[in-house]
Amino acid sequence: MDERIISSEVNESEINIEQSLRPQTLKQYIGQNQVKENLEIFIKAAKLRKETLDHVLLYGPPGLGKTTLAVIIANEMGVNIRTTSGPAIERPGDLAAILTALEPGDVLFIDEIHRLPRTIEEVLYPAMEDFCLDIVIGKGPSARSVRLDLPPFTLVGATTRAGSLSAPLRDRFGVLSRLEYYKEGQLKNIVMRTSELFDTEIDGPSAAEIARRARGTPRIANRLLRRVRDFAQVKGNGTIDLALAREALELLQVDRLGLDHIDHKLLKGIIEKFRGGPVGLDTIAASIGEEAETIEDVYEPYLLQIGFLQRTPRGRVVTAAVYQHFGMEIPAP
Ligand code: ADE
Repeated sequence: MDERIISSEVNESEINIEQSLRPQTLKQYIGQNQVKENLEIFIKAAKLRKETLDHVLLYGPPGLGKTTLAVIIANEMGVNIRTTSGPAIERPGDLAAILTALEPGDVLFIDEIHRLPRTIEEVLYPAMEDFCLDIVIGKGPSARSVRLDLPPFTLVGATTRAGSLSAPLRDRFGVLSRLEYYKEGQLKNIVMRTSELFDTEIDGPSAAEIARRARGTPRIANRLLRRVRDFAQVKGNGTIDLALAREALELLQVDRLGLDHIDHKLLKGIIEKFRGGPVGLDTIAASIGEEAETIEDVYEPYLLQIGFLQRTPRGRVVTAAVYQHFGMEIPAP
């Protein structure tokens, strides 16, 4: 995958920055109002009953704040959070080690939970349902199963693909919350909040300009803000105004809808090589040299959201809006 300023996926060098910007409470968290309101009630109820919170599944495109919400859930419940991810757990023993080290009430956060191997999922079922672990000791005819009690805990799972989760795993979550792309006004507020944390002056129109090009995604908004801030420090006096923000964003080659060269390659590829579609995902992937899964999880969701792409039974189709965006003539049907 090419390096892209508007990738919604987190890169290694950003992990610490993201952590330092992360809101710590539901009150500080901007957007996702429905998810927030529900969580607030479930958390209050669990605390009133002095119970652990039910298991929570957070799903939706990358960069929308699933990890942040997991941290907030733990903070609001007043418990520790332990973090791991689906691909990091390779053997049942890995999961057993994590589960047996939990303290009562802890949040266990499993990112990319759809990538958990099936053999591990089966260990997770009794852990989620009855807070116990069935482990097999020994091999062959002398093997025997031992049941271990676990402290009660809350599993918070995050996934970009709820559909890839097995039904038995999905059914064991009491709370399922889908995160939506953020509205421009919410992203603008996030940009203003982050600027304040950075001690960088920014005006409303500049924050709105960054928000407009952030593909509905706080991670991208904050990344664009960091680059615009660099520009302001080097080329200006450190303050971000609209002319400077626009100049910096042009330089970053992020267009006015937040699309970059990969989106352009994808959309123009469908227009030029496949007459606008319909064309299958694997065919598009091969023709532009990207992986089908990356297109599906990372690039495509936003293009579907803004009505630039449609999924049909015969494949992907670009819409008239794409031709307009590129100043191309819309072909006759
Ligand atoms: N920073 C990143 N995402 C945020 C959010 N949803 N609310 C406040 N600050 C954020």
